[in-house]
Amino acid sequence: MAGWVYAYRLEHRMKSIRCLLLVCFVLHLTLAAPVRAGDPASAPTSDAPRVRVLVAYHSLRGNTRQMAEAVAEGVAKVDGAVATVKRVEDCTKEDLQAADGLILGCPTYFANIPGAMKVVIDDWNWKLKVDFTDKVGGAFTTGGGQTGGKEHTAISLLLFLLNNRMVVAGPLYEDEEGDDKWGELGSSAMTGPLDPGVGNSELDAARRLGERIARVARRMKSPR
Ligand SMILES: Cc1cc2nc3c(=O)[nH]c(=O)nc-3n(C[C@H](O)[C@H](O)[C@H](O)COP(=O)(O)O)c2cc1C
Repeated sequence: MAGWVYAYRLEHRMKSIRCLLLVCFVLHLTLAAPVRAGDPASAPTSDAPRVRVLVAYHSLRGNTRQMAEAVAEGVAKVDGAVATVKRVEDCTKEDLQAADGLILGCPTYFANIPGAMKVVIDDWNWKLKVDFTDKVGGAFTTGGGQTGGKEHTAISLLLFLLNNRMVVAGPLYEDEEGDDKWGELGSSAMTGPLDPGVGNSELDAARRLGERIARVARRMKSPR
């Protein structure tokens, strides 16, 4: 009789152990499953923090949109950084709040920010109550003329960002030897009629702007 009881208990214990092993095996498979391409978690190639940069632009004829896309290419060069490109009027409160970096771009209208864009971005603070404190910002612009006010437009965008408690930066330049180094206040393109369209060097400046803002935003997020 005692032997029967002992055998029954042993069998019961073995069943419990088998169950436990099965649970462990399933857990192992679940946790070790490879991350599918396209999953947000698979984007960064190192342990760098994920940095979100919103490139928000206004454009009627497409020149400034071209610059915005190049800015986003620059952002993508930075490990762990992702860019979203949107027209200012399509940016939601959630887009703005989620962004670690915000890069604004617009054409020059009468040497300044186009009124239609100003109406939209003024509401981000005034109506949407977005808190921009310590987000990192940058600016880019296009203009038809060589001295038609592009730089003034870029400065006006930077003032908007500064006034909204952001930290601003511009693209970096250096010569081939790396001896001569400069910083710029933003990126711009001359679009005509004397120099029509957006040129390669202007797109390159836009890429450098995106890369710089993503780097600074990453540093702000995780200072070393
Ligand atoms: C109403 C209006 C005013 C403009 N004023 C200026 C100006 O003051 N200075 C300048 O360089 N270009 C000026 N432009 C030219 C635009 O800035 C230029 O074409 C720009 O690249 C257009 O950008 P988009 O293609 O993204 O719309 C003006 C264009 C318009 C339609």
